[in-house]
Amino acid sequence: MGRQERKREHLKHAVSEELTCADFHDVHFVHNCLPETAYHALDLSTTVAGLKLPCPLLLNAVTGGVEEAEEVNGGLAEVARALGLAMAVGSQTAALENPEYSGTFTVVRRVNPKGVVFANVGADVDADQAQRAVEMVEADALQVHLNAGQELLMKEGDRDFRGRRKRLADIIRKVSVPVIVKETGCGIAREQAAIIQELGAAAIDVGGRGGTNFLQIESKRSQQKVSADLLQWGIPTPLAILEAKNGAPELDLIAAGGINTGLLAAKAIALGAKAVAVAGLAVKTLLAEGREALLARLMQLLEELKIVMLLTGSTSVPQLQQVPLVITGFVREWMAARRLVR
Ligand SMILES: Cc1cc2nc3c(=O)[nH]c(=O)nc-3n(C[C@H](O)[C@H](O)[C@H](O)COP(=O)(O)O)c2cc1C
Repeated sequence: MGRQERKREHLKHAVSEELTCADFHDVHFVHNCLPETAYHALDLSTTVAGLKLPCPLLLNAVTGGVEEAEEVNGGLAEVARALGLAMAVGSQTAALENPEYSGTFTVVRRVNPKGVVFANVGADVDADQAQRAVEMVEADALQVHLNAGQELLMKEGDRDFRGRRKRLADIIRKVSVPVIVKETGCGIAREQAAIIQELGAAAIDVGGRGGTNFLQIESKRSQQKVSADLLQWGIPTPLAILEAKNGAPELDLIAAGGINTGLLAAKAIALGAKAVAVAGLAVKTLLAEGREALLARLMQLLEELKIVMLLTGSTSVPQLQQVPLVITGFVREWMAARRLVR
């Protein structure tokens, strides 16, 4: 099956995915009944990979390289422009190989000329290709995705992951913009986060388990029989944030993987993220209900984030990162087993 058909199927399956990371239930805020702040004073600005962002919500990489992607990316870019959100394009490999597809990515820059845009490639490309991807969309940063789990469940996927660290190091050294290393749903553990920091990346998108599940999507596509438990492989998003924070304390963290409400966004920030990213929620709402509905849904998410900021007495994102939390259950046990600190 060709790449285009795969991309079409990803969009189709994403719309039917359940999207919420249940493990955030183990993370509890402590209500502050005397918040010394005001709604109008709340400051949502944040910094990721050296980029100052007005809002800690990003639209994550979703698509490109197939005809219908131009409309999807155009729609997402309009919403990003309206709300002042940074946005990533999907993997640009198709357009690197065939320039005919570049319009499905460059639409994002055309619609949102002043916005913050992230380019996106896999760790199998070389530094020259990565730089071309950056230039194609005049990107402010480059996302390099890691997705070994997905590849293994794809019939046509990669089976040999040797040499990726070296390629990653090369990309980080040579491209003209900061590099964000991201997972796509299995999370990033402390040990690999430490390597990514050592290689000189600017930020990590933890891409934890609990949202869009590419293992499930690929096993459905390939009709490969995989045990149900194996399809739940990976580090749940709240733990992926803590793992990455403990392994790469100097890097900015983006939380992603099943974040679909302002409350979950607030919990992700309180655990250590400087911003949160949504992919499945955005594409699902856009395709099923349209741009206005997506705009409304994201505004509601930001509204809820602000309510939680107020009820924890936080005026800013850095203050929300410091509020007391109670961590229970599985998340607490994992933290103890792995000696993770918040
Ligand atoms: C339809 C679809 C296509 C995606 N394609 C890409 C991609 O090309 N490159 C990439 O880095 N991530 C891709 N992702 C992964 C997302 O960027 C994100 O890491 C993942 O979906 C987890 O976030 P979510 O739970 O909010 O969906 C895709 C996600 C979806 C839903």
